[in-house]
Amino acid sequence: MLPTTLSSLHSTSVTPTPTVSPLSPFSPSSSSSSSSSFLSLPPSSSTQRRRRLNSLCFFGDTHLRISPKPKGLKVKCLVSEPLKVMISGAPASGKGTQCELIVQKFGLVHISTGDLLRAEVSSGTEIGNKAKEFMNAGRLVPDEIVTAMVTARLSREDAVERGWLLDGYPRSFAQAQSLEKLKIRPDIYIVLDVPDEILINRCIGRRLDPVTRKIYHIKNFPPETEEIKARLVIRPDDTEEKVKSRLEIYKQNSEAISSTYLKIMTKIDGNRPKEEIFKEIESFLLQVQKDKEKMEKSGNTLLESKSHKIQASTSEDNWRGIPTRLNNIPHSRGIREYFYKDVLEATQRAINDGRTRLKVENNIPELNPEMDVYRIGTLMELVRVLALSFADDGKQVKVCVQGSMGEGALAGMPLQLAGTRKILEYMDWGEYGALGTFIKIGSVGAKEVDEQDDMFIIVAPQNAVGNCIIDDLKAMTDAAGNRPVILINPRLKDLPGSSGIMQTMGRDKRLEYAGSFQNCYFFRLLYYAGTQYPIMGALRMSYPYRCELYKRIDEPSGKEKYVILSTFTERPTIDEINDAFQGKPRNEAKNTSGIWGFLSGIF
Ligand code: AP5
Repeated sequence: MLPTTLSSLHSTSVTPTPTVSPLSPFSPSSSSSSSSSFLSLPPSSSTQRRRRLNSLCFFGDTHLRISPKPKGLKVKCLVSEPLKVMISGAPASGKGTQCELIVQKFGLVHISTGDLLRAEVSSGTEIGNKAKEFMNAGRLVPDEIVTAMVTARLSREDAVERGWLLDGYPRSFAQAQSLEKLKIRPDIYIVLDVPDEILINRCIGRRLDPVTRKIYHIKNFPPETEEIKARLVIRPDDTEEKVKSRLEIYKQNSEAISSTYLKIMTKIDGNRPKEEIFKEIESFLLQVQKDKEKMEKSGNTLLESKSHKIQASTSEDNWRGIPTRLNNIPHSRGIREYFYKDVLEATQRAINDGRTRLKVENNIPELNPEMDVYRIGTLMELVRVLALSFADDGKQVKVCVQGSMGEGALAGMPLQLAGTRKILEYMDWGEYGALGTFIKIGSVGAKEVDEQDDMFIIVAPQNAVGNCIIDDLKAMTDAAGNRPVILINPRLKDLPGSSGIMQTMGRDKRLEYAGSFQNCYFFRLLYYAGTQYPIMGALRMSYPYRCELYKRIDEPSGKEKYVILSTFTERPTIDEINDAFQGKPRNEAKNTSGIWGFLSGIF
């Protein structure tokens, strides 16, 4: 039996041992690679640091539905490497409908395995005769038939030159693996999400025009003329019974397929007007195109010799999903490095896009100083990675730790920050003398803002009992003007002070100020309420991409992995997370008393 609710992470370690290590390993030269020396990660070498971390670039490769030539093509692929798009979703989720619109706008070659197979059936070919029986029964046609058809079509010149839009393939883990083996990978994997009952209604009402191949629906999209209406046909597999069987098969396979395309998967609410859905798809495709152009410009594209395949960028190749064993404290060096890099890339992208009020909220167990003061060490290591990287870009970075607030007997600083500034000063900032030149250490307040400072990184700003940091922060950000200010794991909530001292700013203003910072990175583990084990999943958001919801899965081999369940434009609500974990389509009626739940405080 599952416990009743999911809780967010607050204190997460299974092993309560604090992550403390002797102060000596601050120096990279003396650091051991032991996972417990959490302050020992050396700053990267100058060369390494100079290597630009690319913005998220997608995989690319080769390509396939029979579509008429695009009319009114508005966007031209500016890059030599065209777009490669995969679209998936349950039967009647609107793949074909969206594909028509995508082709019109982007000029891709639409390859629909359903259409290819139907063409074979109506031509009475050997393949068609074999496939007919399976299709009419609402079952999958054997892999070897479909895969050969798809790979042949993908290698044709039009698909290679114009890019492709693959619809209805892969439909099983084996099919996904066939493409992987051939290094055929899309830039983006779009999944249309529609509730079951809507799907059935859409199938039953679907009509096809055999002349133009246009898709209609007797109620939703009726034909334009009586002449068209008279020639419309019904697909033999569009009966309620067959649709249910197709839907079942889709559900059985979808998770395994998604796991192959985790990083590039984008789930889209498909139960909206088709134009609205297309608008969202369009914005994703334009973003992918932009990323590919950027990648080409930065010279990271490696063309494979014989094909027009594009290799993944180094960073993408190295992306290994969410690290596992996150409940083990201390975290391994590999885990820490993963998160430092993940945060750095998101922050760089946000700053390159001109964002100036940013916050990073990374709540892996070892970055959560609320659990014990020692964990501030990992936080400082993260800060060092960020500061050195921006300094390497020639920026003057000020790393700020709030000092004591208040006066006399009421003076104080949050326990977690005690000694932090001193430790920062002792840390190794590399052989190039970055500390004192490009990196300065300061406190929080308007007077800390010097003319020569280019940006500010503020370490875990928070209130102490009776003293609110927000006045000082506000004065500092006002003085910083349009220079970036990045808050690392802030706690700016309106916490009650035991002394009852009134703050100088009103509550609304304080909350408004806290809300003015935009998340450029967010990571949080998910647990059942009231437990810290096992990890059920994670939420991750890395600017400018969507918030991703992952489920943790124990594999039969004893290993664990994280599988993406859904993505969201905003941080999902408790209900949305519940629904995703229960496999409900996201727009199904919400049930707040579901078996999953969160501590609402995190939102
Ligand atoms: P295939 O043709 O691919 O069928 P499918 O995946 O079941 O998808 P559909 O074509 O039914 O739906 P769709 O998502 O394209 O929706 P549409 O836009 O038409 O495959 C058929 C069969 O071939 C399979 O069952 C299998 O046997 C075989 N096969 C194919 N690929 C295979 C593979 N890889 N391996 C093995 N076998 C394979 O829209 C549906 C209806 O909804 C329309 O009437 C439309 O007008 C309406 N509609 C669309 N969008 C909206 C909207 N936003 N609002 C309201 N109505 C909408």
